Amino acid sequence: MNIAVSSQEVIEREQKAMFQVYRRLPIAVRHASGCRITSIEGDSYLDFLSGIAVNALGHGHPRLVDAVVRQAKSFMHLSNVFYQEPQIELAELLVQHTGYARVFFSNSGTEAMEGALKLARRWGNMRGKTEIIGFMGGFHGRTYGALSIMAKPLYKDGMEPFLPNALILPFNDSEALRRAVHRKTCAIVLEFLQGEGGIVFAEPEFVNTILELQEQFEFLIIADEVQAGAGRTGKFFSFDHFLVKPDIVTMAKGIGGGLPLGAILAAEHLEDVWAKGMHGTTFGGNPVACAAGIVVMRELYGGVMRNAREVGCYLRTNMMILQQQFPAIIEEVRGCGLMAGLKLSVPAAPVVEELLKRFVIANATADTVIRLLPPLIVTRLEVDECTAALQDVCKHISTT
Ligand SMILES: Cc1ncc(COP(=O)(O)O)c(C=O)c1O
Repeated sequence: MNIAVSSQEVIEREQKAMFQVYRRLPIAVRHASGCRITSIEGDSYLDFLSGIAVNALGHGHPRLVDAVVRQAKSFMHLSNVFYQEPQIELAELLVQHTGYARVFFSNSGTEAMEGALKLARRWGNMRGKTEIIGFMGGFHGRTYGALSIMAKPLYKDGMEPFLPNALILPFNDSEALRRAVHRKTCAIVLEFLQGEGGIVFAEPEFVNTILELQEQFEFLIIADEVQAGAGRTGKFFSFDHFLVKPDIVTMAKGIGGGLPLGAILAAEHLEDVWAKGMHGTTFGGNPVACAAGIVVMRELYGGVMRNAREVGCYLRTNMMILQQQFPAIIEEVRGCGLMAGLKLSVPAAPVVEELLKRFVIANATADTVIRLLPPLIVTRLEVDECTAALQDVCKHISTT
């Protein structure tokens, strides 16, 4: 591998060799540890993005790294032709902690969603139910099934056709949902806390409407917990903040702690919908990724989820104080636990750039929302550091 001497050199090489689809930060990384990322130039950044909600245990967590190395030395890939204990142990932990009956492992969030849609479609086809409903502001991945229940034109334009019998409705609009649901509705897919959509919670009244309609029309609820799940909101799932148990859950991101791992969890009544051979993957449930997942689960239930709750509360309080100081800039503090959003009255992208100049990494979502997704091991001191940087940026904006 070439050893680059500057971020600029790496940026130029990327521009020559790779599809230009990512809006990257202008940083090439040399090293990352805990909540810090160090650039090739030696600049140290505070990571309030966690690889977009992936590095739940931060970077280089010793027990995570140790488990990965040990598993890689033992066996790195066998295929799902074999029984592999890391997979089974992680599935057991998920079943035990969530009450779901069955687990299927994928490599990513979008693949988990494809599997969930296939499972729902097969369940629905046996009952004459064919329609799937998604919501505006929802994000489920970049594959065709996921895109078919998403609205944002940037992700879809010119790439038609998408799946038939897929409907996209406004989020949190109970009336629109009532008008759309009927006996052919097969499944409703939602993020109970929308991430890419701007850190927006489902309203309790909307969730009640979904449950009421489910009672009446018998469809499946699929919860996309890829971003908000795995302890990020201080509870294992974001829907744990409501009195609801979806039929199917998709997970990814945080559950692998940095390795590519996704999962579909299904309730007991769905355990026989798939027979052998009906779904599968070569890499899904990779033993190294599952070894990482086991450590993530143990750490989450060993105190990290409590940290997400407590430090999340502290972060929220800090953000609300900032909102009081800069009401003309910060319109609303959103989110829960360590999934926070600041709805701004100004575009978020320049604020992210200013934060970066102050060595704090966050990102912009839904144009005017600053999204903060620190590792779940983040400390109050690190939250203070991020708050100080944000305060400084707000001061800078107010005076320019
Ligand atoms: C809620 C949600 N679902 C699904 C996905 C897709 O996951 P992946 O990028 O691993 O395919 C994402 C990714 O950002 C997400 O935030």
